[in-house]
Amino acid sequence: MNRVGVVGWPIEHSLSPVMHNAAFQALGMDDWVYDAMAVPSDIPRHAVIEPKRHGYIGLNVTVPFKQAVMTYVRPDDKARAIGAVNTIIYGDDIGTNTDVDGIIDDLLAHDVALEGERVIVLGAGGAARAAVYGLWQQDAEVVVVNRTLSRAQDMLMQLTMTAGIQNVQAVTLDEAVEQGPSLIVNCTSAGLWPDVDTSPWVDGIALPQGITVYDMVYRPAQTKLMQQVEQAGGRAIGGLGMLVRQGAASFKLWTGVEPPVDVMYQAAEEALAARQNK
Ligand code: ATR
Repeated sequence: MNRVGVVGWPIEHSLSPVMHNAAFQALGMDDWVYDAMAVPSDIPRHAVIEPKRHGYIGLNVTVPFKQAVMTYVRPDDKARAIGAVNTIIYGDDIGTNTDVDGIIDDLLAHDVALEGERVIVLGAGGAARAAVYGLWQQDAEVVVVNRTLSRAQDMLMQLTMTAGIQNVQAVTLDEAVEQGPSLIVNCTSAGLWPDVDTSPWVDGIALPQGITVYDMVYRPAQTKLMQQVEQAGGRAIGGLGMLVRQGAASFKLWTGVEPPVDVMYQAAEEALAARQNK
């Protein structure tokens, strides 16, 4: 049996097992299985070496291990750049980060233009770091807005050191809007269930005309921010596709097989819908 899986804590709500096992089933890959492993946060080394010892082919890594496992793998350029690993390929013990692929692939799949476009990234956590790096690589003109400005500045200083990112600034929302963005990517957790009435968009500032907003939050499927955007006549895209596409990118790395993205999306969507509290 070819085993892959995800380590994290807590892990029971992860959509990854459903998504990957649906893909294996759809492709008749009966000798593959994906499972979820709960590992206490203080033993990141075990999270990496135990699955390997048990013959796993690869691993997804989620909260709280994405940074901590860096020490126990050989991080590739992407993982180094953003200081986090979400995918391990055993054998060579390569650690990479498919969150970057997830966001960029999903934006491109939605025909969102990136090259030369002005983009506001909201947030300064791990998700924002992946978005800034990916968008910068696509030659977008990125600015970062965060509730706590100093965190955004720290993040950009880090990205300059780890990835050589230049010319990306942390600004206020007012300043960012004045620059005439075509895309806003929400990388904050504002609006995430159960705080469904929260939005990262500050009251009193108009959403730019014709704006596209990508909300990494996928629970609920229609966030407060997405409602605001649609009311303002803009285009809102929810973040489930990013989750699916980071998984699809990991799938490809482990199996060498083209992932059935639609199957994975549908499985994730159904699993989410089946939850009692959306
Ligand atoms: P992750 O690593 O998953 O991206 P994180 O490091 O906890 O998560 O970062 C969460 C991000 O959401 C931060 O940018 C946070 O802003 P602060 O740096 O000011 O804390 C942002 N965030 C969370 N709740 C928010 C809210 N209600 N309004 C605006 N931003 C919010």
